[in-house]
Amino acid sequence: MSLVPHYIENLEPYKAGGTIAEIRQKYGLERIIKLASNENPFGPSPLAQKAIAEHIHDLHRYPDSGGIELRSRLAAIYKVKVENVVIGSGSEGIMSNIMRTFLMDEDEIITSSGTFIGFKVLANASGKKTIYVPLNNYRFELKAILPYISAKTKIIYLCNPNNPTGTIFTREEFDEFYKHVPSRVLIILDEAYFEFAEEFPEYPDSMHYRYDNVITLRTFSKAHGLAGIRVGYGMAHERLIGNLMKVKLPFEPNSLAQAAAVASLDDTDFIRHTVDTNREAREQFYQLFSELKIPFVKSYTNFVTIDLGLETRVQKIHQALLEKGIMVRPLKAFDLGQCLRITTGTPEENQIFMEAFREVTRDK
Ligand SMILES: Cc1ncc(COP(=O)(O)O)c(C=O)c1O
Repeated sequence: MSLVPHYIENLEPYKAGGTIAEIRQKYGLERIIKLASNENPFGPSPLAQKAIAEHIHDLHRYPDSGGIELRSRLAAIYKVKVENVVIGSGSEGIMSNIMRTFLMDEDEIITSSGTFIGFKVLANASGKKTIYVPLNNYRFELKAILPYISAKTKIIYLCNPNNPTGTIFTREEFDEFYKHVPSRVLIILDEAYFEFAEEFPEYPDSMHYRYDNVITLRTFSKAHGLAGIRVGYGMAHERLIGNLMKVKLPFEPNSLAQAAAVASLDDTDFIRHTVDTNREAREQFYQLFSELKIPFVKSYTNFVTIDLGLETRVQKIHQALLEKGIMVRPLKAFDLGQCLRITTGTPEENQIFMEAFREVTRDK
């Protein structure tokens, strides 16, 4: 008899990009620049750090299981009710709860092949049939998803902007798509990078319109710089949120995460600085790649994806950068073997990356 279901037995474990400590040890380098995981290079906001220090003395107490302070702050910001907001251990934690809450029997999932790996891992671990519709020109093509919707479809996962390509679908595209999606299908709209995208008029910030079968997911891991503490949030109709609240672990996210997130929401200067420096960095990257005649994808996020044509070239450049202490992300695991994704860093880190990139692409 098998110890685990066949779909767990056959699951490929998630391979993260490697830690700074691992790379430092492997290559014997002092300085490592990590531009591989779309984190905020400036760290957590000072207000969040202060809140963590203050709450450390209360760690002998359980967190507020209702997460009321953080949920109320989010509800006020987005002008919804507390009952419309769920929080979790990262937006991935909420995704995992969505799968546990809503999927049953013969339900099926639809998403795209070139999208967030964390969701693919959850979909594969659910044991449900998952249909991966290819991207078109690095974008989610919503109309290509429609023919795959059947009576069995339960969840459609859309990532906007999309990781790892940085592209968006527009409000018009979504509205047209939505008209054809049955109301029993739950649409997950993953907006992990929304703080970077919201300044673009063509970006359909999903909180500007509410649908009963859509759940918007956002996170404190990216612009807010709190990836290590694990806190994210979701917003949807209270019936959806009410069911998620029944299934989620009562004490997630932990108390430091809740306190840090509340404080981070107050630090609008920090977010502005993050978004402003990211915009400049993205432009510098575009200029570099244009100069080097390397095709890049216009990004609405804090990373830029480039197309190096061949997977072997990606491997060589990735390795050469690693040897210089610069971590970037090859996209083979995202079904984009010819592509490399570079997260923006601090202005100093970006300069070092750009110089190194020129050098390593000279002969590769
Ligand atoms: C599109 C997308 N969604 C979700 C996440 C995970 O976010 P969290 O840290 O909140 O679980 C990431 C992280 O890389 C992401 O790129």
